[in-house]
Amino acid sequence: MSTWRDRIPTIGSIDLPPDPRALDGLGRNHSLETAIADLVDNSIDAGASHVLIRLVRVEGRLRALYVVDNGHGMPESRIDSAMTIGGQRAYSSNDLGKFGLGLKAASFSQARSLTVISQALGSTAVGRRWLLDENREGFLCDIIPTDFATDEFERQWRIDGMDTGTVIRWDNVTGFPATDNPARVEDFISRTANALQNHLGLVFHRIIDAGKISIEIDVEDIEAGAPGPRIPVTALNPFGYVRSGRAGYPKELSARLGDTDLRFRCHIWTGRSTLPQFKLPGGAEARQGIYFYRRDRLLQAGEGWHGIHASDRRLQLARVEVEIDDDIVRLFAMNPEKSKVNVGPEFTQLAEQAKADDGTTFHDYLEVAEHTFRESRKRSTERRKMAPLGKGIAPELRKAIEREIPFDMESEPIDIRWKRFSSDDFFEIDREQRSLWLNEKYRPPTRGERRSVNDAPLLKALLYLVAEELFRGEYLGARDKDNVELYQEILTAAAKSEQI
Ligand SMILES: Nc1ncnc2c1ncn2[C@@H]1O[C@H](COP(=O)(O)OP(=O)(O)OP(=O)(O)O)[C@@H](O)[C@H]1O
Ligand SMILES: [Mg+2]
Repeated sequence: MSTWRDRIPTIGSIDLPPDPRALDGLGRNHSLETAIADLVDNSIDAGASHVLIRLVRVEGRLRALYVVDNGHGMPESRIDSAMTIGGQRAYSSNDLGKFGLGLKAASFSQARSLTVISQALGSTAVGRRWLLDENREGFLCDIIPTDFATDEFERQWRIDGMDTGTVIRWDNVTGFPATDNPARVEDFISRTANALQNHLGLVFHRIIDAGKISIEIDVEDIEAGAPGPRIPVTALNPFGYVRSGRAGYPKELSARLGDTDLRFRCHIWTGRSTLPQFKLPGGAEARQGIYFYRRDRLLQAGEGWHGIHASDRRLQLARVEVEIDDDIVRLFAMNPEKSKVNVGPEFTQLAEQAKADDGTTFHDYLEVAEHTFRESRKRSTERRKMAPLGKGIAPELRKAIEREIPFDMESEPIDIRWKRFSSDDFFEIDREQRSLWLNEKYRPPTRGERRSVNDAPLLKALLYLVAEELFRGEYLGARDKDNVELYQEILTAAAKSEQI
């Protein structure tokens, strides 16, 4: 029998500070976008209303990246703990911060040098810098002189209310192209701006939509004198469909956990949507599943069902919102990069027990989502083709119609336009010219703006649906002629009565 000693004996202690190289290992799961999202978290926690992400170009080459906010900033007494790895503070119930790591891990995952300049109310600007340097001994953080800190803080950020705020600067960014080749640099800038718009627009969509923060991106070419145009980050709401894909949805399923509830808000998208918030980076199919939110910040966007079900092409219309509030936080673990959530074994069990008020289970929901997907496929192939639309229709409307109706590309497009008539008729079918003419006399007045040929979208869409078949075939048949009469009578009467 082996012996077991419960207490482990010791004979003293030695101080073993971590090797500074340990910093290199921080934030290995970050990409440029997730790293910047971590800095934006801090800006939001600091109560900022504006965040600017700026790329700086010197002699054609990208040299630095800034993330600047107009939050409450940090006085001298706070900035050291902010620079400390694992330097946690007292967090309030709304704070996105948790580990005391974000700033450092995000920065060192992307850059060899992190400078933080901050100005709090009633203080002068203060600054610190961490440099990842092979020869560095110990954890010595550099102090920035006041005049440089002030100059940096007062650069041309074009942000309102910058009397307080924080400037984060990264130098030696590892992902920047090591060239001044204009084509390559421009390409990198546009890809980066795009990736940032997508990721930040998605992660912070609730916070942006609530009007709490505006995030912008710009490029400053030092030789050009002034920063370039600012690109706004717009909210990308993964639940932002125009109409639910299924009546009765979204449905809220909930399962009891001790004395709290775990809630699943189950949505079904409409099939074949071409909206960017449906497609999302990576594609809709990869974005099915659970969307975890913590304090209105999206932690994980779809990417599967966490053991509830396997991902399946036919489940691509199914997306579920789950709020990780403090009561149920023990069911989950988020990674320090705040880009992934791992669920514990209880989570799957709770999902299996979850029910809506009307008795719908998770299984029922997935079945309905799959059915909706299959139906939408079937419908689009079964629908009769119609002549495409020509002039007089706004491009967005044409796209919306095209999503629903397969256009017959053999057929000439139909224009829907206004002109002066010698009669009181409401419309005229001109098959030769492929035009559906509308009587200018009944044209709805504009509200101040200039008249557009693409006006009256509702009227034109309805007429297209009703009258498109009158443009088919060689001749108008007797029934078609009768229909023209019928529509003419009714629409003219209706238009006249609107004029009174
Ligand atoms: N933009 C900022 N404005 C004001 N204070 C900031 C800013 N960025 C960082 N800080 C301060 O620095 C501290 C450390 O930031 P860091 O991101 O490293 O950790 P955290 O936000 O506390 O936790 P987490 O690791 O979860 O992000 C913050 O708690 C905050 O007090
Ligand atoms: Mg943080």
